[in-house]
Amino acid sequence: MTPLKFRMRRRRGSESMRALTRETRLHVTDLVLPIFVAERESDAGPVSSMPGVERYAVCQLERFAERLNGSGVLALMLFGIPAKKDAEGSGAWNDDGVVCQALRQLRELLPDLTLIADVCLCEYTSHGHCGMLNGEAVDNDRTLVALQKAALAYARAGADIVAPSGMMDGMVAAIRNALDENDQTDTAILSYAVKYASAFYGPFRDAADCAPSFGDRRTHQMDPANHREAQREAEIDLQEGADMLMVKPALSYLDVLSGLHHAFKGVPLAAYQVSGEYSMIKAAAANGWIDERKIALETLLSIKRAGADMILTYFALDAARWLHQDS
Ligand code: PBG
Repeated sequence: MTPLKFRMRRRRGSESMRALTRETRLHVTDLVLPIFVAERESDAGPVSSMPGVERYAVCQLERFAERLNGSGVLALMLFGIPAKKDAEGSGAWNDDGVVCQALRQLRELLPDLTLIADVCLCEYTSHGHCGMLNGEAVDNDRTLVALQKAALAYARAGADIVAPSGMMDGMVAAIRNALDENDQTDTAILSYAVKYASAFYGPFRDAADCAPSFGDRRTHQMDPANHREAQREAEIDLQEGADMLMVKPALSYLDVLSGLHHAFKGVPLAAYQVSGEYSMIKAAAANGWIDERKIALETLLSIKRAGADMILTYFALDAARWLHQDS
């Protein structure tokens, strides 16, 4: 037999050889932990659809900070669960609302952390939609005013980054203006620019109690069939002043993530491994069908390889521990 010309296996023969030729590495500083904070203690506790995820009451944040301290995780994404909801979602911009209270506490407990506040009305509206309604439709432009007030309140309460997630047109420009006119020029905007109308958000809607009471979110979130449209969404949000962009969900949209990574070289990209992605792994692992640790790390690595600079994941604390053990 003629000798083989190509032997790719030469580089895979030992762990040190594999390490030398490894192209992508997951690091704890890539990870952002989403956290649910409840205004009422009675709303705190484990989230049944997301094993291992817990909602903390504002008064329990000290315990949370102890868990986080020393983990190496550097950033949090905050979601609030208000005591009361109304048709306008006014709890979202209340200076004493749950997210503002949590931001002030966390700022004090964890001064070096980057605090990101999700900006959307769906957790605060009685109907569960991401904006104010006009009949049964979400009123884009009236919602922008509410998002401005919410983003400003969060910036003032200590958020380093505000992250509008409602897919309203003009949300980034509206928020940038409101921040700049009110002396919050240093607050960054991470836009959920490319957010698909996805069934993977199911467990989150339990956790944050924000399922729409009628209809769905397909009039503002993107059609999962579209990739080129994602480029357009990204372009517009960058022109409006976004500092960073997000793709969401992650695993089913790695092509989109990779496309944006190549198209917008100077822009930090985030990807959100959403609740459904997390809970599927948890459920299969609980059945003994997959290895949770290996699968979780493999999915996170693939998200990084596709082009994410930061990854929002409910596995952040576990992954931080696993990465530490591996190193
Ligand atoms: C909206 C928001 C949602 C998620 C993050 N921000 C829910 C939605 O759009 O219905 C989903 C996150 C997840 O599934 O983990 N505020």
